[in-house]
Amino acid sequence: MSAKTRTAILISGRGSNMVAIAKAAMADDYPAQIALVISNRPGALGLYAASKMGITAITVDHTAYKKRQDFEAELHAILTAHSIDFVVCAGFMRVLTADFVAKWESRMINIHPSLLPKYKGLNTHARAIAAGDSEHGASVHWVSEGVDEGKIIAQARLKITHSDTAETLAARLLPLEQALFPKALKQVLTTA
Ligand code: GRF
Repeated sequence: MSAKTRTAILISGRGSNMVAIAKAAMADDYPAQIALVISNRPGALGLYAASKMGITAITVDHTAYKKRQDFEAELHAILTAHSIDFVVCAGFMRVLTADFVAKWESRMINIHPSLLPKYKGLNTHARAIAAGDSEHGASVHWVSEGVDEGKIIAQARLKITHSDTAETLAARLLPLEQALFPKALKQVLTTA
């Protein structure tokens, strides 16, 4: 069997998508090894979840750096020091510069809670409801220079009901994201 791709997951909070991927990666035939989790927010819940699973979990607090480039230089240095070959952004709430994106071109994916190209950016659930959409979803895509603009890899969709609020919609979408993301990562690593 070929070696697993050493993969890092970048998070900012709860990390439930990260956990879903890390669990999938425990299977012998899964193509990624989750070697590292990095949070830009100290105390992010996902850091504890990663540690509990035996994954090295590191904080790189973006507020400690004067410039975005300095934060990213540290991020890149840590990824390199851990021999990381692939990066997964899972609820990572920092915009990455073109320079950083170029360094990880075709080696970095993200999940966004909308049916891209609809609703790039924030508050996607509320915006889908406000627009009167009948369906909503999540997209796994390649990270490119434009935020939430990279090529789409896979999507999950669900119907919006009349009683949905942004909160209920987000809660109903989350398990679909957690199922979609490990599959999409497997897909890109096995077809690369
Ligand atoms: C997910 O809804 C993801 O689509 C969005 O942020 C949320 C992260 O949740 N980018 P979690 O931290 O993976 O639980």
